[in-house]
Amino acid sequence: MQTRKAWITGTGGLIGSEIVRSARRWAEQWRVTGLTRAELELTDHDAVTSRFRSDSPDLIIHCAAMSRAADCAGDPISARANNVDATRHLAGLARNSAFIFLSTDLVLDGRKGNYTEEDSVNPLHVYGETKAEAERIVLENPRHTVLRIALNFGKSPTGDRGFNEQMHAALAAGQMLNLFTDEYRCPIATEVTARAIWELAGKEIGGLFLVGGGERVSRWDIGQALVRRWGPLPGTIQRASSKDYSGPPRPADLSLNCQKLQSLLSFPLPGFHEWLEQNPTAKV
Ligand SMILES: NC(=O)c1ccc[n+]([C@@H]2O[C@H](COP(=O)([O-])OP(=O)(O)OC[C@H]3O[C@@H](n4cnc5c(N)ncnc54)[C@H](OP(=O)(O)O)[C@@H]3O)[C@@H](O)[C@H]2O)c1
Repeated sequence: MQTRKAWITGTGGLIGSEIVRSARRWAEQWRVTGLTRAELELTDHDAVTSRFRSDSPDLIIHCAAMSRAADCAGDPISARANNVDATRHLAGLARNSAFIFLSTDLVLDGRKGNYTEEDSVNPLHVYGETKAEAERIVLENPRHTVLRIALNFGKSPTGDRGFNEQMHAALAAGQMLNLFTDEYRCPIATEVTARAIWELAGKEIGGLFLVGGGERVSRWDIGQALVRRWGPLPGTIQRASSKDYSGPPRPADLSLNCQKLQSLLSFPLPGFHEWLEQNPTAKV
């Protein structure tokens, strides 16, 4: 029976849409309201307050964000309004409710790797700075939860939000992609992220958790596996090194030790290659 009310923000995006989709399977006890930007603009604080008072959600899973680092660098004022101010307002309204904030591994500088919840943040760009500031605000309430999430792959409603979708589109358009052999991530499927979030929501545990796949892989390894899965496309991938890259700073090694979260879950967090093997027909 659906007795408790959950709001999911950012449901026009990659992860929020999957959290709503997967609620049928993993969150039967929740009455879920998904909120796209068209349904509720989170920088309109009066509108958010009024909708919150009328709905009184018991839980908010806050996925909405200005999530592309380049957009945040180009418009730091909007990045702060969307990522910090909107989060502060929502978390304040939800002070007596459960609140799960989706942050990012990009609050870390990538110099260490194998990160735990004990490691300090040191963001390298505006996006990471805004998420780190929002984390601090959310964690002021011991009831509230921050999830520092790794690179996600899956299917977004607009078809262009996941790194896998962007890579496929570039290759379909005939581009050549340079993929670093020396930049590491712990990619995780959105459906795994969503399942973990729903399990955690049922436990109502506050504090910080890292959320990533169980395998440290390079960008090059990721690209190779996806290209094998997709079959021939007009474009190609080629090995590259971050040492030869001259753009804005990028964290080299964002591998995560997710033991704290894993110990609470009923299922293992699969590695990238493992997930692909376990889901041979899933579209990525
Ligand atoms: N995808 C990843 O690999 C990844 C990794 C680590 C952490 N995260 C975090 O996980 C969360 C979800 O990421 P995602 O990949 O699903 O992002 P996404 O695909 O960009 O979706 C974010 C959604 O939030 C909406 N939004 C932004 N500002 C809003 C506002 N002021 N009011 C209402 N809606 C607003 C966006 O709407 P518009 O499209 O209209 O802008 C978009 O639909 C984010 O907090 C992100 O920082 C993602």
